[in-house]
Amino acid sequence: MKNKIKKIGVLTSGGDAPGMNAAIRSVVRKAIYEGIEVNGVMRGYEGLITGDLIGMTSRSVSNILSRGGTILKTARSKEFMTAAGQEKCVKVIKDNRIDALVIIGGNGSLQGALTLQKDWEVKSIGIPGTIDNDLGYTDYTIGAHTSVDTVLDAVDKIRDTVSSMERIYVIEVMGRTEPYIAIMAGLAGGAEEILRPGSKLSMKEIADEIREAKQKGKKSWIIIVSEGFDSAHSVTEKLKSETGYSVRGVTLGHVQRGGSPNAPDRILASMMGAYAVDALIEGHHGEMVGINGGELSLIPYEKACFERDKDLERGNHLYDLTKLLAT
Ligand code: F6P
Repeated sequence: MKNKIKKIGVLTSGGDAPGMNAAIRSVVRKAIYEGIEVNGVMRGYEGLITGDLIGMTSRSVSNILSRGGTILKTARSKEFMTAAGQEKCVKVIKDNRIDALVIIGGNGSLQGALTLQKDWEVKSIGIPGTIDNDLGYTDYTIGAHTSVDTVLDAVDKIRDTVSSMERIYVIEVMGRTEPYIAIMAGLAGGAEEILRPGSKLSMKEIADEIREAKQKGKKSWIIIVSEGFDSAHSVTEKLKSETGYSVRGVTLGHVQRGGSPNAPDRILASMMGAYAVDALIEGHHGEMVGINGGELSLIPYEKACFERDKDLERGNHLYDLTKLLAT
């Protein structure tokens, strides 16, 4: 049933991701086209607590489509985790006559949206914006494609020196508890091993694997380590002492979060932003926009945040493929 939405707030929360600006642009311009007023909320839930809102026009989002980061800034709000913080948000929303929010962020941010909906009846639609790809029932989150491209650029460059010097190299990538970046960059970069949270492989087993491969003529070896498993430094030192080979390592860090969004992220963000506004107009709330096989749909927050079995399955399958192709 159509719902008269007169004013919305849009915010970005948690770790920034390339393509968040493209999503903001889409939300703002689509809403204005539909006759809806838009407030930008600064610094995610922090700005919702303090009432740091800005009126937005189509011109507020000029020339941001290609820019990384988020013009609305972002934060990880500790105060928002408390009922007192949430109550302040509700007051700001009411005082400013905001009918609904569009919340752009990752798993933690959309869990926040779920709390606002369940405990405080705040209406919102979520847009998955995070390099981690840590939400269920969506093939992609905004920023994940660009981040994998950034990692791949590093992997390819490292491969040149690693193969020239016949070394073992450990590359630590982001993803919190999610192995998505590690697996995709591992597969696309031809990594010999991927270490993910939950990986059962011991350093001794990896060392044996490397020795065996050396005997078969493999001269270099790239291991991608997801930050949730261990640090590059620690894996490097352990492998040095296990193998006696020349091992080097690097932590790619926040370089993975920056940069201009690539075409898939700009397209995804543009599609999802407008879809989120349509969803609110249609009377939906408490759901996240997801993409599956190229089709957009709405997924209840609970499912998006907590049901991840399919992603785990996909990860395992792609890990096996990476290993097979690296022989
Ligand atoms: O959620 C995105 C992310 O980049 C994770 O991959 C990483 O674990 C975390 O944020 C780092 O957070 P911060 O920038 O707050 O150190």
